[in-house]
Amino acid sequence: MPLPDPAAPLPQDPATAAAEIADLMRVVAAADVDYHTRDAPTLSDAQYDTFKRRLRALEQAFPDLAAPESPTGRVGAMPAEGFGKVRHARPMLSLENAFAAQDVADFVARIRSFLNLAPGAALPFTAEPKIDGLSLSLRYEDGRLVQAATRGDGTTGENVTANARTIAEIPQQLTGAPAVVEVRGEVYMAHDDFARLNASGVDRVFANPRNAAAGSLRQLDPEVTRRRPLRFFAYGWGELSAPLADTQFDAVHRLAGLGFPVNPLTRRVDDLDAMLAAWTDIEQRRATLGYDIDGVVYKLDDLALQARLGFRSTTPRWALAHKFPAELAWTRLERIEIQVGRTGALSPVARLAPVTVGGVVVSNATLHNEDYIAGRDSRGTPIRDGRDIREGDWVQVYRAGDVIPKIADVDLARRPADAVPYVFPARCPDCGSDAIREEGDSVRRCTGGLACPAQAIERLRHFVSRNAFDIEGLGTRQVEAFWDAGWLREPADIFTLARDHADELRASEGWGERSVANLLAAIEGRRTIPLARLIFSLGIRHVGEVAAAVLARHFGNWAAFVAAVDGAAAEPAAQAADDRTRRAALADSPCWAELSSIDGVGPVLVRALVTAFHQPAERAMIDRLVAHLDIQPDSGAVQADSAIAGLTVVFTGTMERMTRAEAKARAEALGAKVAGSVSARTDLVVAGPGAGSKGRKAAELGVRVIDEDEWLAIAKA
Ligand code: IVH
Repeated sequence: MPLPDPAAPLPQDPATAAAEIADLMRVVAAADVDYHTRDAPTLSDAQYDTFKRRLRALEQAFPDLAAPESPTGRVGAMPAEGFGKVRHARPMLSLENAFAAQDVADFVARIRSFLNLAPGAALPFTAEPKIDGLSLSLRYEDGRLVQAATRGDGTTGENVTANARTIAEIPQQLTGAPAVVEVRGEVYMAHDDFARLNASGVDRVFANPRNAAAGSLRQLDPEVTRRRPLRFFAYGWGELSAPLADTQFDAVHRLAGLGFPVNPLTRRVDDLDAMLAAWTDIEQRRATLGYDIDGVVYKLDDLALQARLGFRSTTPRWALAHKFPAELAWTRLERIEIQVGRTGALSPVARLAPVTVGGVVVSNATLHNEDYIAGRDSRGTPIRDGRDIREGDWVQVYRAGDVIPKIADVDLARRPADAVPYVFPARCPDCGSDAIREEGDSVRRCTGGLACPAQAIERLRHFVSRNAFDIEGLGTRQVEAFWDAGWLREPADIFTLARDHADELRASEGWGERSVANLLAAIEGRRTIPLARLIFSLGIRHVGEVAAAVLARHFGNWAAFVAAVDGAAAEPAAQAADDRTRRAALADSPCWAELSSIDGVGPVLVRALVTAFHQPAERAMIDRLVAHLDIQPDSGAVQADSAIAGLTVVFTGTMERMTRAEAKARAEALGAKVAGSVSARTDLVVAGPGAGSKGRKAAELGVRVIDEDEWLAIAKA
């Protein structure tokens, strides 16, 4: 497509303007997709800004021609404003993934052990396609659709009620439903509808049906949604004033009876073999379904057992997504480039001759680390029969779902005669510092720390990303621009931008009075931040969203969290040279022991936390940031009013009526902290038969000890 000329005088007649607006929308939308979705920019930042300014100028000159879904109204791929936020009455969870039959077997075994089932006891599941769309929660009160919300971060989504009302497959009215029902399912677009939509000259060309479905639901004008051929499958529920049924299968049928489309391939499966047979069957039908699916979801059929199993921080224990194998293609590896991440990791990236893999054009793929390129794993064992990967090679690319494409294999028969083994750099390509590999680490890291611009920028990008501070109007581009201008070196600088650089910002290209005001207001709005988000935003190694949520849940507030990490840093365990001596030192390291006893927090994570908080430069940076914030404590999705909320509980001895894992999960759901050892901080010990030293220690410390029956009475309450 020829690019419009942004330097030409603005057209005077609406027809010419309309044609140019349409061209510019396509150019900018395509660039957005390349940049945000494919991570492969096709325009320079300057070109992009010029086109966008021209589009804005035309829309201002001809307001009637401004399309509601115009990219000038969006930040990256996200709506700039408009959707209200909805806090979900029950969190919208995601699913644990499995890729192999063994993972499914492990899943079933885990459930059996959690529930302590007798060998051979029946344990039926449902199996159904995993639809590749976006999830939607529909709330009905007294039979009327009152609210529709996207998943968002699982806790808070976007209010898309007006748009959802235009989707023909979604009932507006229910008869015979409980007073409150939240129906959950997937919005998707069928293949033929998708092809028609893209061919119809719609303003944006969508990369795949999933993007088309998301783009059609998450734009501001319901009339646009109405014209988009969106469809819906119901597969679950949130809040209910009365149960739908006793089993998953019957509940889904009840939804069908209420008028919701449910997937016809949903079935009940009695054991592991039947689960795997269902997976094979559904995979074989995949090509003829007419819509995208990317796996099979298994759910425990008995809803009472689902309730006993409960949830981890973001996924239910009773469901599993068994994904289909990735899609493959061969292409030429043009160059290997090294990217420096926020923790200093040097990551090799393959720049590829573009190739379509499963409907998406791929031009970059990860090469993991230097061992992977050399054809060995981290222990030195050969992979790919020891074949290394070189620039110029033909390589096999695979992708599964949304994950970054990977290089699976290399074709030696097509290797160019002059190809040489790849030499992994021993210096950071960005700041020139030594890049070293620690014993046992597969990754080489730049030692430049925050003095390395690549690391500092990556950390800032992480800090403002969607699941971190998520400041509207402050995305990757702005972070880079503000960095170049010298205004932004660390997260705290964001909160002094208004004081220190507002005038310069107003005077810079692409910014006006209003956009600056909006940005500063968005920053102001983020001074109040939930504890879990803050912990995640810090970008500490190994502290992902789940770990951050677990830590926030456990400590409840920032002061308690910092006190524990600081405490741990001062204890003998912090001085231990290896894991064995550290375990021995735990008895004298109560803070370290508390951190390690948290479910979901492993020793590597504890060490990473302590290290991060103990580096003086890093710590000073965190303290400077926190000084600007009002950190919301984490009350958690727990029953704060239960008898044991806030107490620290230790289980010891044998539990006869529930497994240890179940007892622990239940205690956490009731707002208690579960620790592994008895200390002065312990409030309650639940002791079964055979409680040994822990029971004695509790008695010495005067901690209340109860038996399993008393515990069950509390846990049921
Ligand atoms: S159940 C508590 N069933 O997959 C479990 N999810 O990877 C919640 N999805 O966010 C999900 N088809 O958007 C479920 N048949 C299905 C699904 C399905 C697609 C999506 C859903 C979820 C994501 C998790």
